[in-house]
Amino acid sequence: MHLSLKPSSQWTACVALLSGLTCLIAPTAAVKYENFKTCDQTGFCKRNRAYADHAGQVGASFESPYRIEPDSLSWEQGQLRGTILKTIDAAGETVRLPITISFLESGSARVVVDEEKRQKGEIELRHDSMARKERYNEVESLVIIGGLSLSLTAKEERDVGKTTVKYGPNGKFAAIVKFSPFSIDFARDGATQVKLNDRGLLNMEHWRPKIEKAEPEQKEGEELPAEVQTGEDESTWWDETFGGNTDSKPRGPESIALDITFPGYDHVYGIPEHAGPLSLKQTRGGSGNHADPYRLYNADVFEYIMDSPMTLYGSIPFMQAHKKDSTVGVFWLNAAETWIDIIKEKEAHNPLSLGLGSKMDTKTHWFSESGLLDVFIFLGPTPKDITKAYGELTGFSQLPQEFSITYHQCRWNYNTDEDVKDVDRKMTKYQIPYDVIWLDIEYTDDKKYFTWDPLTFPDPIGMLKQLDESERKLVAIIDPHIKKKDGYHIVDELTKKDLAVHNKEGNAYEGWCWPGSSYWVDCFNPAAIEWWKTLFQYTAFKGSAENVFIWNDMNEPSVFNGPETTMPKDNLHHGNWEHRDVHNINGMTFHNATYQALLSRKKGELRRPFILTRSYYAGSQRLGAMWTGDNQASWDHLAASFPMILNNGIAGYPFAGADVGGFFGNPEKDLLTRWYQAGAFYPFYRGHAHIDTRRREPYLAGEPYTGIITRALRLRYALLPTWYTAFHQASVDGTPIIRPHYFEYPSDEQGFAVDDQFFVGSTGLLAHPVVTEGAESVEMYLPDDELYFDYFDYTLYSGKGKHTISAPLDKIPLLMQGGHIFPRKDRPRRSSGLMRFDPYTLVIVLGKVGMAKGELYVDDGDSFEYEQGAYIHRTFEFSNNVLESKNIATKGKLTDKFLKTMKDVAVERIILVGIPASWTGKSTLKGGVEIECHAAEGPTAAWATVKKPGVKVVEDWRIDFNSLSHVRDEI
Ligand SMILES: *[C@@H]1O[C@H](CO)[C@@H](O)[C@H](O)[C@H]1NC(C)=O
Repeated sequence: MHLSLKPSSQWTACVALLSGLTCLIAPTAAVKYENFKTCDQTGFCKRNRAYADHAGQVGASFESPYRIEPDSLSWEQGQLRGTILKTIDAAGETVRLPITISFLESGSARVVVDEEKRQKGEIELRHDSMARKERYNEVESLVIIGGLSLSLTAKEERDVGKTTVKYGPNGKFAAIVKFSPFSIDFARDGATQVKLNDRGLLNMEHWRPKIEKAEPEQKEGEELPAEVQTGEDESTWWDETFGGNTDSKPRGPESIALDITFPGYDHVYGIPEHAGPLSLKQTRGGSGNHADPYRLYNADVFEYIMDSPMTLYGSIPFMQAHKKDSTVGVFWLNAAETWIDIIKEKEAHNPLSLGLGSKMDTKTHWFSESGLLDVFIFLGPTPKDITKAYGELTGFSQLPQEFSITYHQCRWNYNTDEDVKDVDRKMTKYQIPYDVIWLDIEYTDDKKYFTWDPLTFPDPIGMLKQLDESERKLVAIIDPHIKKKDGYHIVDELTKKDLAVHNKEGNAYEGWCWPGSSYWVDCFNPAAIEWWKTLFQYTAFKGSAENVFIWNDMNEPSVFNGPETTMPKDNLHHGNWEHRDVHNINGMTFHNATYQALLSRKKGELRRPFILTRSYYAGSQRLGAMWTGDNQASWDHLAASFPMILNNGIAGYPFAGADVGGFFGNPEKDLLTRWYQAGAFYPFYRGHAHIDTRRREPYLAGEPYTGIITRALRLRYALLPTWYTAFHQASVDGTPIIRPHYFEYPSDEQGFAVDDQFFVGSTGLLAHPVVTEGAESVEMYLPDDELYFDYFDYTLYSGKGKHTISAPLDKIPLLMQGGHIFPRKDRPRRSSGLMRFDPYTLVIVLGKVGMAKGELYVDDGDSFEYEQGAYIHRTFEFSNNVLESKNIATKGKLTDKFLKTMKDVAVERIILVGIPASWTGKSTLKGGVEIECHAAEGPTAAWATVKKPGVKVVEDWRIDFNSLSHVRDEI
């Protein structure tokens, strides 16, 4: 169903169709479905689904036409090479597909299949196209930054009809490559975990010349005969039209597809970006399922709908499959348009299993429009193993500027430099902390980036100076479309140097975006990056300074008059690769160019860039933050934000957030308030609003809202050391910053689909922000029998399962799990910069066994000096009634220098929650430190505070609480 009807008929159509209520809202606030393709409207998607349907109908007698030529196989140092033959006709003619299977030192495996004819350029392009003939083979060079060393211990054992490779840690992984038909089973400890081409859906559309057919004669009143020669739908092989745009497809059909089955796994996660639950749904119809595959084709889909497999702004073709105590993963390294079908079926070898405890097979089917078949297989067995192995390949999340993980105040637009200064003053006046104010497109002179509107922003430097007085920053938007305007020096240089994306004729491609007619900088071109770098130098970008950072929007790219609001697929990038081949990494290359530019703004200045991107791919996590694009001020969009951020996190890109308050529309005050509370748990925390919305800076809400919002913001600032420690951890091992249950409790089946609550780093903080209207409480799920304490009032909860937590508007459901220690900074300040040398508070949350552990990571929050040891990394451990701080940092060249700057920073308070009943009253510990204990009261646990323990954060120290067990009420 498409709502491409005129407004008047839309109403009647809606009533006649589904639910009148949805339709009432639809005309004003819904995605424009008709702008985006369904699978059925996408040639290669339809063809591969039809192939799967055919295989399913034929059943057991269906045989995949792909087989490995055994004589072609060779094994060398962890790599198996050979040729797959694809039989293409009844006479047995075949097409040669070179295959390389690599077994990596890390324990990951990689399967790459190419096509010999295209590889050798032995094909003809149509329409005199200038495009490259090969299948796109450069995605690896942009995405993979390490982890490709081949295993020296992997061993191959050839057999009749198959070969087996043992690899991985202690040789416990195995790949069983069957020759005819070709398939690979991946096993761990003898049990199969991942199967490739088990269903025979491998499909590589080989090159073929177009056979021009004579137009069939059509007699009056007679239907045209259907074309059935090959049984294949050829209607979109040679060109494809959608929404008035025709894609010329000079290389003909070239899609690749493969089925990947996870036997015994009933949950799959990842493949962002989609609005929907963390645990992905089935996609081939049926009650509660999607009807279309999950689509990955980065697009500007505003006012997107909930619970949909529709594509959004970014894509990461990385999936984790999970069952009790086992996680595996696949990474589909392809930058072209991709769709993924998911079905779940009762385990094949156990068809009689029914009801509870019966296991599912999750069967996935991946197809991309062009490029190589290139897939990585990770065998776990834990979620942490998977994210780590994936991060070794694509990079871990950037260790960000510390300010960038606090609160950002944005709207489209702050209208003048005076407006910015006024907001800044008011935030100070109302004592609302924030670090960054943002400028959307209106600050520019006529949408020409790197310029300022002379009437509205006459004094950017004066504005930046005021912000700097509170160590606050500015983020300015810079987009990839460059206004085509005589006398605009940027566009002059772009065209003179020929650095724009080309159309299929090889000239600069022209399209429409915010500035009107525009060109797009082609960041696949190294020369374009070099040029882009010159534009950001303080001397070139006049009115910018050290406290200016950047926002890259519209980089899918969004082209208002292009097919599906983006570029034509037959556009050409550097090296004459078609846009078709690289579309999904386009956004990342622009983000990367800006990253390189911020690194080189000034000679001798090396600071971590902060750049927000809307479009992204695998690897974008190295470059900065993302947000979920143009959401709406509605409760369902608030609710959807957590599953989306969680999925992004487990796909290796945890620095994620959603627009607080909702971009479109005016949130009611309770929604705005709940959104600020929720946002305090987004790794990226930014309030943003559309130009047509009413102003909604936190101080405008009025009481009690402003006060409640301010407390949510202060909570984020107080926990900044904890958040920063979690960001550090993500930057070294890829663990998500907010973590879903299955990630922390891989054995707890009840938690596998939970996505409305999550843990913050490894702190044991378990949050369940309220995302429903009028809620006074939430049901919180506890995954174990540990003790949990309310963060704010120490109410004790325990017992695996659901607990009702009261949550009036001023309350965020947030629990502390026993057994953890986390750091805070409790003094309210204007910005994080002003907190740098503030003393710490340590919260010790005692668990059932009276032990607790935690970590703190600190560095200058700005430079790369941490790479030379300029950081603090400590563990805190409480056991046997002794609290100890231990150094776990590795000393480097700049360690001493950094520690000197931090030498006076103290721990000003220690809070112990869940203390033994024997600890009571006020007393003095060994060394003269005073402690005040509070007995348990009703549901509230016993707790204690130590004020001024007299210890420094840079030092090793221990505080002995043992005297408390026998000394009572000394005072
Ligand atoms: C980023 O830019 C660097 C420097 O020009 C280049 O080497 C690298 O390939 C680029 N990466 C991406 C993802 O564009």
